[in-house]
Amino acid sequence: MVPPRGRFIVFEGGDGAGKGSALAAAAEALAADGLDVLSTREPGGTAEGLELRSLLLSAAGSVWDQGSELLLMTAARVQHVKRVIRPALAAGKIVLCDRFVGSTIAYQGSGRGLPHSLIRDLHRIFVDDVWPDLTVLLDVDAATGLGRSRRRLAGAEADEGRFEALDLSFHERVRASFLEQAADAPDATIVIDATGPLDSVRRDVVSEIRAWLSASLTTG
Ligand code: TYD
Repeated sequence: MVPPRGRFIVFEGGDGAGKGSALAAAAEALAADGLDVLSTREPGGTAEGLELRSLLLSAAGSVWDQGSELLLMTAARVQHVKRVIRPALAAGKIVLCDRFVGSTIAYQGSGRGLPHSLIRDLHRIFVDDVWPDLTVLLDVDAATGLGRSRRRLAGAEADEGRFEALDLSFHERVRASFLEQAADAPDATIVIDATGPLDSVRRDVVSEIRAWLSASLTTG
């Protein structure tokens, strides 16, 4: 018997691109289509990952060296892939994940300036070289995204503002990196213009994912 093969769909984009809300809309729509969906996020996704998340994202936690930041993001991913993502895919689920290694390439690589080759090596050695079947990139210019994200953080309880505190040029490098990654893998990426109202972004995301999945599930 051929084992079931799930699909691994990752949502990427800069801060304030609206990934969280687009992912929630996609999860709801796919579940309504009768699919078995698991929603998860990075950094986080496991109890250990959530502890690392609060250490890494706290604005008060800016004592981390960029090398430590890369290793901790990767450590959270190792736990997440081995304990959550791999088993869900093996059970045939559609896994929707908010951020993955593309964020490490964009933030720690292009943002912080660490070598992309090092990030890819760590991913190959420790994360079994697991890559998304599909990446949904929500693209918005850095100033607009950052403005949205800072407004949201101002009203939030959690102290998760470490990256939002970085300057605009950092976030412009992050955006450029996501677009470069999309251009390098055009068959496995859908780029959505996330500038417009959230409702229309959510509708675009749901219809693009439904179209991709119906083709992908038909061809096996
Ligand atoms: P997230 O919760 O997705 O924030 P937002 O909703 O504002 O987009 O991600 C938290 C932050 O973590 C975000 O600023 C990007 C950063 N990050 C990295 O720097 N590297 C990584 O590998 C990941 C997964 C996230």
